[in-house]
Amino acid sequence: MTRQDKDPLRVAVFVSGRGSNLQALIDATQKGQSSARLAAVLSNRDGVYALERAQRAGIPARVFLRRDYASRAEQQAAMLAYLRQVGAELMVLAGFDQIVEPSLVRALEGRVINIHPSLLPSFGGGLHGQADALAYGVKVSGCTVHFVTEGVDTGPIIMQAPVPVLEDDTVETLSARILEQEHRILPAAVELYAEGRLRIEGRRVRILPPAGKSD
Ligand code: GRF
Repeated sequence: MTRQDKDPLRVAVFVSGRGSNLQALIDATQKGQSSARLAAVLSNRDGVYALERAQRAGIPARVFLRRDYASRAEQQAAMLAYLRQVGAELMVLAGFDQIVEPSLVRALEGRVINIHPSLLPSFGGGLHGQADALAYGVKVSGCTVHFVTEGVDTGPIIMQAPVPVLEDDTVETLSARILEQEHRILPAAVELYAEGRLRIEGRRVRILPPAGKSD
């Protein structure tokens, strides 16, 4: 059975801030032809613009503040309970600035993806992929959507988009150019997942042809 015959895949989006990647997912899933639907937004911060975007789109959103829990593990255990409650099938980290606990990764293995603003494995493991690329002096950077594993930014890569680093770039101009590509590849990766077209083979992610077509 193909996804087209089924209910749309229930996607939960994790955010911490501005939520422009969340917006790209909202726009893509509202087009009507998506195999995914946004079932919930989870934030580890209060009052962020991403929550407003969720509210405007009518997506249930819940805030899990670190200070309300004894540990990050307990905070993320509460997130996991909420994911189960809403029946989330795919989790998307879209500008989520917390490290995901190994227990959460294990509970959701193969069902969590992340967008990172560099061409991994370069400039992973932190929150400043764009600044690090600029400081290093690379001529090409970009963004990566990958499966989340226990290592930070080291999981199997689903999609990447390259972006040139220009002579007069600042962190802001480079980030903006990368962000445009993030908004393109994140919804594309979610759609591929929802269509059941991603197969993890060791470190590699094979993208299968659309249903009804062969290689
Ligand atoms: C993006 O650059 C994302 O790759 C990084 O944080 C930023 C979040 O932006 N992890 P937004 O909240 O989606 O606008």
